[in-house]
Amino acid sequence: MNIAIDGPAGAGKSTIAKRAAKELGFIYVDTGAMYRAIAVYLIDNGVSAGDEAKVAEAIDDISIEIRYEDGAQQVYLNGDNVTGRLRTEEVGNMASKSSALPCVREKLLSIQRELAAKNDVVMDGRDIGTNILPNAELKIYLTASVEVRAQRRYDELVAKGEAGVDRDKIEQDIAARDKQDMERKAAPLKRADDAILVDSSDMGIEEVAAQIIRLANERK
Ligand code: C5P
Repeated sequence: MNIAIDGPAGAGKSTIAKRAAKELGFIYVDTGAMYRAIAVYLIDNGVSAGDEAKVAEAIDDISIEIRYEDGAQQVYLNGDNVTGRLRTEEVGNMASKSSALPCVREKLLSIQRELAAKNDVVMDGRDIGTNILPNAELKIYLTASVEVRAQRRYDELVAKGEAGVDRDKIEQDIAARDKQDMERKAAPLKRADDAILVDSSDMGIEEVAAQIIRLANERK
């Protein structure tokens, strides 16, 4: 069985997808991490996302491998585990830009489809229900208002003890990333016609996860 969860940055997709996968005994596939790993390569090699020909050239030198260690997804870039390097703003911004290029998306499509063909998965991303797994048994489009997503991210950073966190800047960054992901030509972020819309603005993580687990169990 395949479950697709798409939606904008900061809607809670990964936390919820992880929880649902654990409860259902499925594997959790974080596709954003794959785009981020490619971004790490581009940053390390000084390739600009604006130079499509250079990115296309670089893509041929990249191998991405997904492994599961203690149930957690690990991303290997040319043999090195880069999982610990993926979650910075710099990498997120580069991923958002480079993921708009068809050569980058093409590289990851078969990896994602193969994981879903071989396993029961909860896969999260931007184009899973619309493009990667159009026949997924359950599709969720998980969203929340920009204000709520920015506030959650702000709270997360403050809880981590980061200094000088600017809530307005976070909101601007989230809005810019939404725009980039929704307006690109290649596999833009949008709700699949058959996806269930879940707005988590006024819901807790537990409530959303429970709803998705219930829907999945109904379709098993
Ligand atoms: O979800 P995450 O923030 O890790 O994704 C990083 C970036 O990768 C997103 O901003 C988006 O541009 C891109 N992405 C994508 N398609 C996916 C998953 C992520 O384009 N399926």
